[in-house]
Amino acid sequence: MTAKPNILVIGTGGTIAGRGKAAVNTSAYLCSVLGIDEVLDTIPQALALANLRSEQLLQTGSENFNNEHLLAIGKRVANVLARQDVDGVVITHGTDTIEETAYFLHLTLKSVKPVVVVGSMRPPSAMSSDAALNLYDAIAVAAHPSSRGIGTLVVANSEIHTARDVVKSNSFKLEAFRSPYGALGYVIEGVPRYYRRPSRAHTLDTPWSLDGLAGLPKVDIAYGYGALESDALASIAANARGLIFVGTGNGNVASHLLSTLREAARRGVHVVRASRTGNGIVLRNGTQPDDEYGWLTVDDQVPQKARLLLALALTQGCDTNTLQAAFERY
Ligand code: DGL
Repeated sequence: MTAKPNILVIGTGGTIAGRGKAAVNTSAYLCSVLGIDEVLDTIPQALALANLRSEQLLQTGSENFNNEHLLAIGKRVANVLARQDVDGVVITHGTDTIEETAYFLHLTLKSVKPVVVVGSMRPPSAMSSDAALNLYDAIAVAAHPSSRGIGTLVVANSEIHTARDVVKSNSFKLEAFRSPYGALGYVIEGVPRYYRRPSRAHTLDTPWSLDGLAGLPKVDIAYGYGALESDALASIAANARGLIFVGTGNGNVASHLLSTLREAARRGVHVVRASRTGNGIVLRNGTQPDDEYGWLTVDDQVPQKARLLLALALTQGCDTNTLQAAFERY
């Protein structure tokens, strides 16, 4: 019999650590109140999959996570992955920003060992909670050799998603996580089954590592609509090194906002056009002359992940062509 893998489960809070007054409270409950060991105690079956250790790194809703939280999680995970006695890591996390933490790890960790970020849409106390099965599945995925070398994963609702693509796309349903090109695979009865692999570069194939990284450049996001006033947009751009402008449709910019964004770019702010549709490609030099304005485009990335990608890219330089290449490669 082969030895069971050693999996570290890191708790950070969220609904998976939540508790409601009654079983009918599927959406109204307290978040981040159960310790990671209390959550793990609900799935003794997971001990058949792996040797488990746990630690409580944070205990807060993921809507509170800022760049410092991401760096703290990333540095801790990088640290434990370097240990011989750790074969994989599971991070329990609120679902609101799970895709951001997962993508940040996907771009910065330097290891082939599986890292799985998992949450739940209903707390363990609720009727038909997804907490126990999601966590069991996440441990199964982290413990399985087929999960090595494919970057950070998000497991939910029996699906395995790549951190690059997954987004939370529903506020309350169990079927909340969507990858525009589909999940990488499924988990069934404690065994992952993969049907495709991430095609964009990640982990060992990125230039970014968390070693010595003390902070991230300030990149902000502005949501575009016709009634957005130029002074409101200018104030968001005022102190940013980068600005993700979430335009309508194909990254369109209302005519009365063009001069504000062009002025920001002239001042050295890296302006990136994104789309508020949540799907599709924003084509460079498509609806706007990006080359002429010195603007960038996100390719197909959603604004919240484009923010992280640009922030990491800016840690290594600010040449426009190099920054644009990052959006095409990762
Ligand atoms: N407070 C939210 C969060 O931590 C709860 C959402 C959830 O975990 O499903 O992201």
